[in-house]
Amino acid sequence: MADLSVNICGIESPNPFWLASAPPTNTGAQIVRAFDAGWGGAVWKTLGDPIENVYSRYSSVDMNGQRMMGFSNIELITDRSLEINLIEIAEVKRRYPENVVVVSLMVDSNPDAWDTIIKQVEQAGADAIELNFGCPHGMSERGMGSAVGQVPEYTCDITGWAKESATVPVFVKLTPNITDIRVAARAAKTGGADAVSLINTINSITGVDLDSFTPRPVVGRMSSHGGYSGPAVKPIGLNMVASIAADPFTEGLPISGIGGIATWQDVAEYILLGATTIQVCTAVMHYGYRIVEGMAEGLSNYLDSKGMASVNELRGLSVNKVVDWQDLDVNYIVKAEIDQDKCIHCGLCYIACYDGAHQAIGVEYKDDETKVWIIDDLCVGCNLCSLVCPVQGCIEMVERDHGQTHMSWNDYLSDEKPGELYPRPKHGLTIGPT
Ligand SMILES: Cc1cc2nc3c(=O)[nH]c(=O)nc-3n(C[C@H](O)[C@H](O)[C@H](O)COP(=O)(O)O)c2cc1C
Repeated sequence: MADLSVNICGIESPNPFWLASAPPTNTGAQIVRAFDAGWGGAVWKTLGDPIENVYSRYSSVDMNGQRMMGFSNIELITDRSLEINLIEIAEVKRRYPENVVVVSLMVDSNPDAWDTIIKQVEQAGADAIELNFGCPHGMSERGMGSAVGQVPEYTCDITGWAKESATVPVFVKLTPNITDIRVAARAAKTGGADAVSLINTINSITGVDLDSFTPRPVVGRMSSHGGYSGPAVKPIGLNMVASIAADPFTEGLPISGIGGIATWQDVAEYILLGATTIQVCTAVMHYGYRIVEGMAEGLSNYLDSKGMASVNELRGLSVNKVVDWQDLDVNYIVKAEIDQDKCIHCGLCYIACYDGAHQAIGVEYKDDETKVWIIDDLCVGCNLCSLVCPVQGCIEMVERDHGQTHMSWNDYLSDEKPGELYPRPKHGLTIGPT
């Protein structure tokens, strides 16, 4: 069995699976159950001056039977007293010395407030602290959370204050509600961050009640924008993690990847794009702590199948497979092929291609069946037909070996082209003047 243990900025974790700071890490009793279930670490629900929450506070987007495909919350940081949280942190660490307890913090933007709370949680036994510069609702209106994470100077300065006070590693949790995540990560690194965690939730309104006209979640007759999480946000998290991992300025800065993780495949993807540990919130709110069992078994089997003895061998292997568009091979050609034996004659590929893409699918209604075929000359290999096809493996994209040399767009523009551009179909030439 492959070794799943990892070391992130000097902290040993039995595995890369951590709980994100959120309701599943609200209390010591919960975290104890999570560690028993197999989670290697937990980031404690953000501590600060305890707040009052509103009723209700969650809403979701369901998609074709998948409940909570996207999840939104307007919850704030902990509503429990700091004193009780500190006692529980100490107790959890006493009972589970091998598991990692990171404590998430959010206080007013002054060095004394940060110094006081950091000393308290260190004394309680926290292995590391995570600065919550990410929550996009409620606390940001009070000048905290994403109000800090959206301004690189604040991120840098407050990270610097935390580093002056802390003796344990400092993680900075970033907000995705910005234009270029690398700017925020650079600011955190400049301030001295030992690691970054991302992503926090994304500004969102999940929907509007069409009878009352009130967006969700409803609080009385009003709502407020929330933070979006769950499966819907994974692509955004993956992209942000990858761009920090590839940025020379933040090279080597450890990353704890967050956003839409529910399965071992999700974990593997984050690790391939540069994460050392991963954190989970919404999937545990949906399915409970035991999902970690599937993650551990699945990741181990996957590593075994790849001949890897440790999860550390997987880290970052996909980072340099993300390049700028102009470095892609414009002579790489794929075309769609339909397996007629698998086709159920629904005609969806035809409609999608005809109205929404490149008119490269032929159609004929015969013998009570819609027959479809690829018009090879017109196919631009865009993938759309294979994406809309409801039958697994019915439409495949097949690479064409046409003898053209690899050529990037930059190569093509250069004086010394390495070869010819493979000819593209000419579309849209059939409509003339009436
Ligand atoms: C209900 C809820 C409460 C959250 N509270 C916090 C919090 O107190 N501190 C924090 O840093 N992040 C908080 N988050 C954000 C999560 O830690 C995490 O970054 C985000 O949900 C994305 O991960 P996921 O897709 O696995 O849920 C919260 C998320 C949810 C859904």
